[in-house]
Amino acid sequence: MFISNYRAMNHSTLHVTPILVIVAASVAAVKAPFVLRRLREAGYALQVIASERALHFVTPLALTTAAEAQIHTDQSWFEPQAGAKHLELSHFPKMVLVVGATADLMAKAALGLADDLACATLLSVRCPVLWVPAMNPHMWLHPATQSHKTTLEGWGQRFLGPLEGKLGTQGEASGLGRMVEPEGIVEAVNRLLTVQDLAGKKIIVTAGPTREYLDPVRFISNPSSGKMGFAVAQRAASRGAVVSLISGPVHLAPPEGVEYVQINSALEMKAAVDLRFDSLGDGVDGVDGVVMTAAIADYRAKDQASEKQAKVAENVTLELVPNPDILKGLGARKASHQVLVGFAMETHAGLERASLKVQRKNLDFICLNYPTQAGLGFGSDDNDVTCVWADSRVEEWGRRSKLEVADLILDRMLEVWQA
Ligand code: CTP
Repeated sequence: MFISNYRAMNHSTLHVTPILVIVAASVAAVKAPFVLRRLREAGYALQVIASERALHFVTPLALTTAAEAQIHTDQSWFEPQAGAKHLELSHFPKMVLVVGATADLMAKAALGLADDLACATLLSVRCPVLWVPAMNPHMWLHPATQSHKTTLEGWGQRFLGPLEGKLGTQGEASGLGRMVEPEGIVEAVNRLLTVQDLAGKKIIVTAGPTREYLDPVRFISNPSSGKMGFAVAQRAASRGAVVSLISGPVHLAPPEGVEYVQINSALEMKAAVDLRFDSLGDGVDGVDGVVMTAAIADYRAKDQASEKQAKVAENVTLELVPNPDILKGLGARKASHQVLVGFAMETHAGLERASLKVQRKNLDFICLNYPTQAGLGFGSDDNDVTCVWADSRVEEWGRRSKLEVADLILDRMLEVWQA
């Protein structure tokens, strides 16, 4: 058995990608802290410029707290310092995001004005710029604003929104001018900064526990948090795949842009997976890959009571019957282009048991992990995975965030497709 060690390698740059966020002076500036917090949670390193007038809508403290970073303003631009702040800031980011972009800021940027920190920095950066406008529909549709947009796009800068919807200002109840919501902004940032190497691939990801009900109010389950599967779904969608995330009950918001299917029992999960796995023969192709992170209950009650069962004095014996092995069923009928990835959570004899599961279920590889490892139990944000291949290769990926593990899984699936 060949064991390679990937601990020292960094396959994911997501967590150190620096973004400069400019908060502009629209009513939507009040949503900037939510955008900042979500970007930070997604692992980006942030610097923030708030225009002087944006600070009428949102406080520096709210922005600093959300970004966990210092806020740069026109006032701090002129504080005595060795270098010019706009030039210093222009070297920092991989991209600039303008939140709540106004007609005024677009006009100034399109004209190359540099009389405040935001404009001077926009003129100095050499990275992609994403504008997320929020304004009155008449201002957005005015030929002046549209022509500035065209100018900025001509330089390769991009726009996200605005959307048709309810507006924050008086006078206009709704119209084309509403800012895209924070989740959509983070998703667009992810896509812009991520190579779309999974474009054209369809992937099923399963996550979370299943619940096998004994009666309407009691069930057999396990503490799976769903974080690993949600991380795989998030990264796969960011890298351009079409993703179906099929999950048992968890306390997580599904990533933007994925089909989210909520189930309870193993039988419901099987039905949802089977529906999407095979080619339907009517021009609808099956999926290219499945990542099965779900902790599926092996057994369910033979008879599920339709009424709540009352306590009885004597000991009770539960009769359980086995649930179908969903992954094994897929392995038995997988087409040559379909890649199957399993997860094996073991407390002992991990390598041996994982290797047997790869063979038994006809998988490409399985991710072996130990829930009893210190700090890496159910619900942890990290995982320490050993990747066990069907051809007996073994890779130790070491302790990483679940997002990084997700990227490694997708990297390996891509290698199989390319081979
Ligand atoms: N799995 C599945 N259907 C089941 C049980 C498990 O598809 N009924 C999948 C899991 O999602 C996981 C892989 O099979 O990706 C391995 O799960 P695990 O519970 O470790 O394997 P089992 O075959 O149930 O083996 P055992 O319980 O004996 O460890």
